Formats: sequence, structure tokens, C-alpha cells
Amino acid sequence: MHPSRHGDARSFTGASPGPDEPGAAATRRPVSASPWPLRLTAPGGGQAAVEDLLRRCAPRRVVDIATGLGNVLHWVLGACPSCGHLIGIDVALAALRSARTALTDRRVRLLAMDGAHLAMRDASVDMVTLAYSLHHLPDVAGTLREAGRVLMPGGRLLIVEMHRDEALPSQALHNDMHGWWAAVDTAVGVSHRRIYTRGQILQFIAPLAMEEITVIEDPGDESQARDEEVLQVYRKRFDTYADKARGQVQYESLVARGQELKARMLQTGCSLPRAVIVTARKPREG
Ligand SMILES: C[S@@+](CC[C@H](N)C(=O)[O-])C[C@H]1O[C@@H](n2cnc3c(N)ncnc32)[C@H](O)[C@@H]1O
Repeated sequence: MHPSRHGDARSFTGASPGPDEPGAAATRRPVSASPWPLRLTAPGGGQAAVEDLLRRCAPRRVVDIATGLGNVLHWVLGACPSCGHLIGIDVALAALRSARTALTDRRVRLLAMDGAHLAMRDASVDMVTLAYSLHHLPDVAGTLREAGRVLMPGGRLLIVEMHRDEALPSQALHNDMHGWWAAVDTAVGVSHRRIYTRGQILQFIAPLAMEEITVIEDPGDESQARDEEVLQVYRKRFDTYADKARGQVQYESLVARGQELKARMLQTGCSLPRAVIVTARKPREG
């Protein structure tokens, strides 16, 4: 299918060259602007398993949907130096601009694009990644359909997503806090939902009829849940969201709910929830 049938792209490649030029040395500096940097710490070997997959598949063209600050792109560049073209897409222009300042590698292109309408040809990439973003997408099914469309047969899908099952107390607080951020974002017109359950995430992937599906569970870690530095991040985020809610009709009730969660945080602490790392392969054509 021709790209023009699938929405528009605005490039944030700045001075970057076209996709056929060889890349300069990879920029592996982690992105610190995000309070939730890419986290693949599953004791069960989540990070090692995914890096192993990257090395074995050695993808030449990777698309990262909802790239945000480009954390996944940094990580793919580090784990897979032979990768020739990396495309990060997002609808948030400010995020793409920030991503561009830290991602100077010439193989990386950053494009303003809706994940549910990828301006890319069918079967044109050999890996699609999507991290910590399903719950931000207004059209999850449409976005995953697009991921399946642009993947070439035998190509790999990699999804990392937090879920709200089996949460420890500090994770349950994060989940509730997240629900509050989502409520504020929704009130101001930004797509953001409560974190999904593991079952919902797997149900989203099922219609793609992928094969070789592996699901690695990242249980998270409560050990820093009460660290002052961690609590400070959550307090700051509370302030940011309270500010964001200002002027909305539900302002009073939204802020009261936020205050309640902030008070609960003193008892439980707060830590990132569990996550699943899903890898799958698009079937090869008969
Ligand atoms: C949690 S952030 C991204 C995190 C990033 N993938 C990482 O691992 O650090 C979620 C992103 O989804 C983006 N987003 C929301 N709706 C989108 C859509 N329809 N298409 C593409 N990106 C979208 C937001 O702009 C935001 O940057």
C-alpha cells in the first residue's frame, strides 16, 4: 500500500541524512528527562532475552511507535549496532524535538506521525517496537494492525507495557496515581488511560495472529519505593498534574483525589508496576 494512503509525516531529522547513508557512531547516552526511563530489569532475564533477540534477528529497519524521548532507539542502537535505519514516530512534537537533541546518530529518523496511520509501505520493516505506550494510544487495535501491516513476513514485534495485576502496595499506589494522571490528561483532551491488565495487553496482540509469541514478566522492584529521591519525583509529578488540571470543571475533585494518593504514598511508598515484555514473529508467507 502506498504511504500516501496512511497519513502524513513531519520529519524531525534536522541535519540528519537520508536512510541510505551509513550511520555515525551510535549515541548511547540514556535519556534522563523521562521519570520512567526504559526499564527492562526482569530478574527472569527480560533484558538479556530481548537483547539476545535483537542480536539474533539483527533487524535492518526498526520502527519505534510512540517513541517519546526515544529511549527504545537508544537501546536498540546499543544492543544492535548493525541496525541500518531506525525510525521513531510520535504525535507529540515537543517529545520529538527533545529526542532529537539526544539522538544524533545519523541512522535515526524522527517523524511526527499517528501510530494508527503509519505513512509506510506494507512489509517494509523487520522490527516494530512499542514501549510503555499502549495505554497512551487512542486506537490500540488500529495501531497494532498498522504494526502488523508494515512488518515484513518473519519480522518481529516487541512490546513492553506495564500492567496492573498482582501489584505490591507501592505498585498499587503507582497504578492508582497513574489512573489519576490519566484522568487529568483526559480532562484536558490528551489520550491517556489507566494501565491495562496483562490479559488485556495479550488480547490486543491476539488478532495479529503472530507466531513464536514469548511473554516475559518483569515483576518490578519495591526496594526504592520509600527513597526520598523517588518520592520527590512523584511529588513533582503531582504538582505538574495539579497545575494541568487548573481551569477544568472537575478541578476540585481531581486535586482532592491527587492529595489523597499523595497522603497514601507516605504509608506505602511508590514504585513502578509490573510489566510484560512480549516478542512475536509475523508468519512467513506460505
Ligand atoms: C510513555 S510515552 C512514550 C515512552 C517511550 N516509548 C519510552 O519507552 O520511553 C507515550 C507516548 O505515546 C505517544 N502517543 C500518544 N498517542 C499516539 C499516537 N496516536 N501515535 C503515536 N504516538 C502516540 C505520546 O505522545 C507519548 O510520547
